Amino acid sequence: MRSPILAALLATASSAATIDWTAAYEKANASLAKLSLNDKVNIVSGVGWNKGPCVGNTAAVGSISYPQLCLQDGPLGVRFATGVNAFVPGIHAAATWDRALMRERGQFMAEETKGVGVHVLLGPVAGPLGKNPAGGRNWEGFGADPYLQGIAMAETIEGMQSVGVQANAKHYILNEQELNRETMSSNVDDRTLHELYLWPFADAVHSEVVSVMCSYNKINGTWACENPYVMDTILKKELGFQGYIMTDWNAQHSTSPAATAGLDMTMPGSDFNGGSVFWGSKLTQAVNSGEVPQSRLDDMVRRVLAAWYVLGQDSGYPATNLKASVQGTHKTNIRATARDGIVLLKNDDSILPLKKPAKLGLVGSAAVVNPQGMNSCTDQGCNTGALGMGWGSGTASYAYFSAPDAAIKTRAQADGTQISMSASDSTSAVGSAVNGADVAIVFITSDSGEGYITVENNAGDRNNLDPWHNGNELVKAVAAANENVIVVIHSVGPVILETILAQPSVKAIVWAGLPAQENGNALVDILYGDASPSGKLPYTIAKSASDYGIQVVSGNDDYKEGLYVDYRKFDRDEIEPRYEFGYGLSYTNFTYSDIFVDGRPNAGPATGDIISGGRADLWETIITVTVTVANTGAVQGAEVAQLYIGFPESAAAPPKQLRGFEKLALEPGASDIAAFNIRRRDVSIWDVAQKEWVVPEGTFTFSVGASSRDIRLSGTLDSV
Ligand SMILES: *[C@@H]1O[C@H](CO)[C@@H](O)[C@H](O)[C@H]1NC(C)=O
Ligand SMILES: *[C@@H]1O[C@H](CO)[C@@H](O)[C@H](O)[C@H]1NC(C)=O
Ligand SMILES: *[C@@H]1O[C@H](CO)[C@@H](O)[C@H](O)[C@H]1NC(C)=O
Repeated sequence: MRSPILAALLATASSAATIDWTAAYEKANASLAKLSLNDKVNIVSGVGWNKGPCVGNTAAVGSISYPQLCLQDGPLGVRFATGVNAFVPGIHAAATWDRALMRERGQFMAEETKGVGVHVLLGPVAGPLGKNPAGGRNWEGFGADPYLQGIAMAETIEGMQSVGVQANAKHYILNEQELNRETMSSNVDDRTLHELYLWPFADAVHSEVVSVMCSYNKINGTWACENPYVMDTILKKELGFQGYIMTDWNAQHSTSPAATAGLDMTMPGSDFNGGSVFWGSKLTQAVNSGEVPQSRLDDMVRRVLAAWYVLGQDSGYPATNLKASVQGTHKTNIRATARDGIVLLKNDDSILPLKKPAKLGLVGSAAVVNPQGMNSCTDQGCNTGALGMGWGSGTASYAYFSAPDAAIKTRAQADGTQISMSASDSTSAVGSAVNGADVAIVFITSDSGEGYITVENNAGDRNNLDPWHNGNELVKAVAAANENVIVVIHSVGPVILETILAQPSVKAIVWAGLPAQENGNALVDILYGDASPSGKLPYTIAKSASDYGIQVVSGNDDYKEGLYVDYRKFDRDEIEPRYEFGYGLSYTNFTYSDIFVDGRPNAGPATGDIISGGRADLWETIITVTVTVANTGAVQGAEVAQLYIGFPESAAAPPKQLRGFEKLALEPGASDIAAFNIRRRDVSIWDVAQKEWVVPEGTFTFSVGASSRDIRLSGTLDSV
């Protein structure tokens, strides 16, 4: 059957963002002609660690009015700045599944970035993808699925670059764990590389990201930052990337091999002690000796200058001042993403939302702000008090911190609710806080971060997937003392919940993720029903850590799991997850009806033309799927309708793969149409022999539902 709204939905490929590379390259060419060899080398070489106002700096070139370029972390706001906000981490933005909030988050972060005169904000993150649930930096990226990561990358980059800030897609590529990240090799087959890890970077390039950061690790034995296959063959040629590639900080290992492999900028220009300088005067020598062609140096400079021109940074860009106060009213986005990224996992007897309890008991050190101060730990390298983000270079200082206890106390006043509390993780202190309470709320956490900081024995990656601070025992103690227990979990990634679920008194689990500085306010919005929960898990929560089949490795990683990461593996092996990818409850109910699957008439022939993001035809919509979603419950709510594709058997693909989602806000009784535009890339697989994307022969299944395991409707096409 043909959908009535098909005609309105079918779109052809277009570049996702308005950007004029040709004009920028003309300006870059004109400027290049005025530069000396020394100027050129200065534009592509960092000045060295700690030698400028930012974490990365190059030298100014007066003859073309080129400034000292300032590059600063990171993916959730401006690190080391004092008048900025800390936005929610990528993983929490992903849990909203809300494109508009993701884009606004990018835009607001960039407004602050521009306000403090930073040219390049080092984010967003699509690597790690998060194949390893214990991976230390997974929380900086957008979850364990390439499609969700790709959409989040696109929205964030377009939001950021719309205000003239250079975005940086990182870490390219296959940097999936902290342990040995600076020595190990990630060895992966070409299909897995393309269909999982490269996928979100293709979205980033399609959205015209102007810079990419190569990662610390080796790939098939060759350093990522001197790997011609991933930098030149794939990123620049196959994906048509027109911007520049910079190193991760001190990820360079050579002068000429890095240059000829496609590296365009070295950062910070030395190691962290000022040694290991590979470019600068060494690059000058290599060009003079002919080891690095002059044309390669010119190409580097042209790319860096074009990125600067294409975003209009050559005119009226503010001077660098990391102390400027630039917060504006951006906290509205932090509150909204913090709230809408909360996932309700369990809600027996409709214990939530709270119904004016006479007495509430609060338990756990994570209910209160860090007693030493909200920003007392360097790079957030501790798990003390309420958790809002992981640790490492991808952090920013909190402008303020709304803690759960303070936010709940304020809200409870309106109902005359009495609050008793134990702000410790001691099981012996539980009774006094929860005895006689109508409802007990217990707060537990799990944290991780970047490997240069070790927190409570976790050297970046998590040692295990259990709650920290004796969390299981704390929940057991609360559940023994009170019959109406709500568990609130702030976490960087999956936690094994079996002990908690075995307690009959545990009626609800609120997966509160990493809500940054709006931690308490966002939680109150959900606990009190001021908003219906609408987040969905961006990864699977397993019953046992071993179910993931992937662990941090101590040597090289051969990526033996191939495509079978997260739900792809659980589906293939028929392993029952505890809470599956895409799962999340609401305070209302949604029904799905009327699926239409339409192949596009006269889908154009494949074309080999390369646009930003790869072959042009891969970005064309060739199928549209629509369903009707109705809110049949009693309150307003939002549903994330998800589309999963089952490939024909000939494709030897995972049973289903996310290839669309739409979040619909609906009043009670209202319904709306969720429309999924399926592009040619969405139904293609990477053919290793042909080195091309191909659409496999046979029947495709299009399944739409409320999670990866709660499929409500499906349709098929015999071929596409
Ligand atoms: C810039 O110069 C290079 C090298 O001469 C040339 O190939 C390219 O077409 C020029 N780009 C523009 C937009 O003029
Ligand atoms: C790594 O090596 C494998 C096996 O030779 C090959 O299939 C794959 O394309 C290589 N990948 C990269 C990124 O070099
Ligand atoms: C949702 O549906 C279930 C089962 O049909 C029902 O028990 C529940 O009351 C409904 N909830 C709301 C909020 O309408």
